Amino acid sequence: KKNIIIDCDPGIDDSLALLLALQSKELNVLGITIVSGNVPASIGAQNALKVLQLVNRLDIPVYIGAEKPLKVPFESAQDTHGEDGLGNSQIPSVSSASLQENAVFFIKETLHQNPETIVLALGPLTNIALALNEDPSCFDQVSRFVVMGGNYRSHGNCSPVAEYNFWCDPDAAKFVFEQEFPVPIEMVGLDVTRKIVLTPTILEYMKHTNKQIYSFIQQISRFYFDYHWEHEKVLGCVINDPLTVAYLLDSSLAQGFNSHVEVATLGLGRGQSIVDDHNFWQLPNNCYLLTEVDPAIFWHIFLTRVCKAEEI
Ligand code: BDR
Ligand code: CA
Repeated sequence: KKNIIIDCDPGIDDSLALLLALQSKELNVLGITIVSGNVPASIGAQNALKVLQLVNRLDIPVYIGAEKPLKVPFESAQDTHGEDGLGNSQIPSVSSASLQENAVFFIKETLHQNPETIVLALGPLTNIALALNEDPSCFDQVSRFVVMGGNYRSHGNCSPVAEYNFWCDPDAAKFVFEQEFPVPIEMVGLDVTRKIVLTPTILEYMKHTNKQIYSFIQQISRFYFDYHWEHEKVLGCVINDPLTVAYLLDSSLAQGFNSHVEVATLGLGRGQSIVDDHNFWQLPNNCYLLTEVDPAIFWHIFLTRVCKAEEI
């Protein structure tokens, strides 16, 4: 089993990513740290608890982290994810007595105490940047650092050039990409995540699998379906974050290349991931950037694990 810390902002697709990680025997989730992003961190933490309750894993600790980005004002994505971050699904809340503060402290301590831990970042990079700023050596022993964020050839989802996680806290993203890590940052950006679409047909298939899981996914995705139809005329919804977990489990489902990547912070380019694929800057590669994905492998992994499709 591989130890993993998941830093996230649940969020509809973050919740699906958490479900996949929690239902994968290869992963041992040491803790879930919450950052403000799709929703304020306190709401995101409550959503993480709802997911943990669904799969009977309330033993996993949840830590609340940064309430706002490093420098820019906080702008949530509640227009996309609903006021409650779970598509206004009104799933009953879970006692928050077990919630802990200080996500940044947890990240630093846990990485020092558990060499070879995987770090998975699914939200704005504020918590990660704060941890690295306070303790630059805390990532020295990580085995993988996978980030959902950024875009390369694909257009942005917050501006023509920027993806939400990098756009929401551009200074944190810039800072993180400037650090030296023992492994390249594995960037799972919109080029690949846009290809993962939860369609009405897949949802209909889920109906015939685990009833509780289906009902949860159906409730949280309805709002997301409507949003996609209204804004993009897409039938179904793009789910970005769970691809990172499937990729961790089976790296053969995606391909990419190594490059030097920087993140812009100001003006029109705010949050843009700039990929120096022609090596203009002659700087060392800091990133493995995914460009191709096989959605069929993703769905096989997701349906067999989260929905237990094989057991039906
Ligand atoms: C990212 O932004 C959030 O809205 C999603 O949860 C995902 O992490 C996609 O741009
Ligand atoms: Ca997210």
